Amino acid sequence: MSGRMDGRVAIVTGGASGIGAASVRRFLDEGATVVIADVQEEPGRALAAELGERASYAHCDVSTEDSVAGLVDTAVERHGRLDVMFANAGIMGALGPIAKSRIEDVDATFAVNLRGVLLSMKHAARVMQPRRSGCILATSSPAGVMGGVGPHAYSAAKAGVIGLVQSVAAELRPHGIRVNAIIPGAILSAMTADLVAGDPGDLAGASTKLTSSPLVGRPGAPEDVAAAAAFLACDDAAFVTGSTFRIDAGYTC
Ligand code: NAI
Repeated sequence: MSGRMDGRVAIVTGGASGIGAASVRRFLDEGATVVIADVQEEPGRALAAELGERASYAHCDVSTEDSVAGLVDTAVERHGRLDVMFANAGIMGALGPIAKSRIEDVDATFAVNLRGVLLSMKHAARVMQPRRSGCILATSSPAGVMGGVGPHAYSAAKAGVIGLVQSVAAELRPHGIRVNAIIPGAILSAMTADLVAGDPGDLAGASTKLTSSPLVGRPGAPEDVAAAAAFLACDDAAFVTGSTFRIDAGYTC
């Protein structure tokens, strides 16, 4: 076996589904050992069992510091090190007009999509810094750069992810740790299936955006994003940090 991630240990949050699950598979194909971190225990365990001995599941709620700290400690206990943290877990949260925004929904959206990424970075840095190497990836969204009608809290959180990445990349650069953001375009997953089935009044145009990209004649697939994540996670991207990668077939152009 010879892959670009041979011997690397990775955590993928939100690894039980969609972009996360595709990234778990891709990282394994590239030679990594992967901890699938997710609140969804059953699909997380099933995926780990399907993928064999280099994959394992760890329950984690990224919005809770103890849970993220425990996840990172578990990865290090199981495998001796952590090379890659893919902070990918996310929720759409509540959609609707700003005048009807409920602050508890906003806080819940921020807790997973922004605090969860910050905590994942914090605890990854804690174990990567002494080794002076590592790679952190975080999933943002077109909503974080373009906005859009309805997902105001989600947009704010995903814009925050880009700011976090730039700040933390600057801080960790002297420590040999790379930090990059990924912007997936409209990708078919459990999250977007819900979105298409949602209230079209809140989501004008969402279903048409998700059907097919004029670039490739098909919708975006989780594997499209996983391929970019694998590139950023391996030494091919050794000179890349603080970047925001748009894997969106030009959706945000
Ligand atoms: P998905 O719904 O298939 O996967 C999200 C995963 O995150 C699920 O397995 C879920 O259980 C997990 N999760 C949710 N809350 C969590 C928590 N508190 N702690 C740990 N895990 C938690 O959705 P998808 O599409 O794969 O989303 C992955 C990331 O990509 C998200 O951050 C999402 O915002 C982002 N994204 C997705 C796009 C798309 O078109 N699908 C577009 C832009 C960004």
